Parts: sequence; structure tokens; C-alpha cells
Amino acid sequence: MKTTITPKQSSIVPLQEHIDRTSQELLASFPNTQQLSADERRGIIARYTAVLEGNFIYWMTAAYLAVASDEAHAIIRDNLLEEVRDNHPGMLRKFAIAANAVPTDVDALAVHRNLQNVRLFVAQLSAVKLLLMMAFFEGWITRFMPYLAELARCQGSAEREYTDVHGVCDVVHTQELFRALEGEMALTDDPLPPATQLLEGVERLRVLIRNIVYPAAGVGGLR
Ligand SMILES: [Fe+2]
Repeated sequence: MKTTITPKQSSIVPLQEHIDRTSQELLASFPNTQQLSADERRGIIARYTAVLEGNFIYWMTAAYLAVASDEAHAIIRDNLLEEVRDNHPGMLRKFAIAANAVPTDVDALAVHRNLQNVRLFVAQLSAVKLLLMMAFFEGWITRFMPYLAELARCQGSAEREYTDVHGVCDVVHTQELFRALEGEMALTDDPLPPATQLLEGVERLRVLIRNIVYPAAGVGGLR
């Protein structure tokens, strides 16, 4: 069967490229693990845990509530099922404990403002924008796993389950979320808003992720 590319499908390509570039640039901007002190390494793992442990499933659930297409619902449902059934938050907590990097109140406060900004965006329940943000999140997580595993190794931890699982499965998840996006876009004939608007969640999440690695970026203006 010959498949035809619709204008909407082809409009996903630049968004996908932007998201790909954004996560590559983020990783390239991170400090070399060998140059970090033990406390800096602990802080990155702890802030990563503070952001991911209690929020990932909630944000994916928000995407589930926001979408309207059967295709997107089915894809996100599978993703959520895996998260819950395989206890990914528990896996992450085990990883943080083994690396002596359980988040403290200081770690939580360092990312508080930028985390709130993402939550405010998620609360809008905007399907296409949320799917873009979650596709970016999954893609970035996969790429970040070797870095996170190396931080933990330098902390003397041999716990690998979380980083092993997420280095593999999230590649598929990212592709699936772009498929969900196509399903969602196919529901409407309305033209897409400009890319800057569509990528609002991606941008807020990018700032938060940078804050995980650079804690000073989140200081000030707590609300
Ligand atoms: Fe997960």
C-alpha cells in the first residue's frame, strides 16, 4: 500500500528536528562528570530524582487526559501501564538511595520555581503541546542515562536498573509519542499554531532540565 504524507505529517518533521537538537545541545552543555565534585554529582542525581520521581507519571497522565484521538490514548496508556506496572518511581528511588543522593529540601527548592512553571503549563492540558513536551522528555531521558549512570558510578554505586531500563525503552516511547501526535493532529483541519507556541512546554522543560544540572539557575523568586 502506498502511503501518502499529509501536510500535517510533514509539519511534524521540523518540530521533531527542533526537539532532537534541543536535547543534543542540552547534553553538550553539561559539565564533564570527571570535573565535578562528589557534592555536585550528588546534587544532580538528587535534583533529577526530585523532578522525575513524582512528576513523570502525573505529566503523562495529563497528556492522556488532554488527547482526544483513540491512537494517542492507546499509545499513552501503554506508556503509563509500563511506568506503573514496573514501578519506575520505585526504581528511581532505589537508584538515588544507592548513590547517596536522596533529595533534600535544598534540592527540591533549587528546582522549585522552574518545576512550578512546567506544572502551570501542564495544567493547561493542551494536547499537541503536551505530546511535544513528553516526546522531548522521553528523548532527553534516553540520552541522559549514560551521564546519570556515570555520576552514580563515581558515587560508588553499582545500582543500574533505572538507567538500564530507561536507556532502551524510551527510544521506542519517543517514536510512539510522535505517532500519537500525528493521530491527534489528524483530528482537526485547523492550521497549526506557530512553532514558538507549540514548543512552549518543550522550552519550559528545557529550562527545568538545565536547572537540574545547574542549581544556581533556579534560585530566586520562589513562589
Ligand atoms: Fe520510566
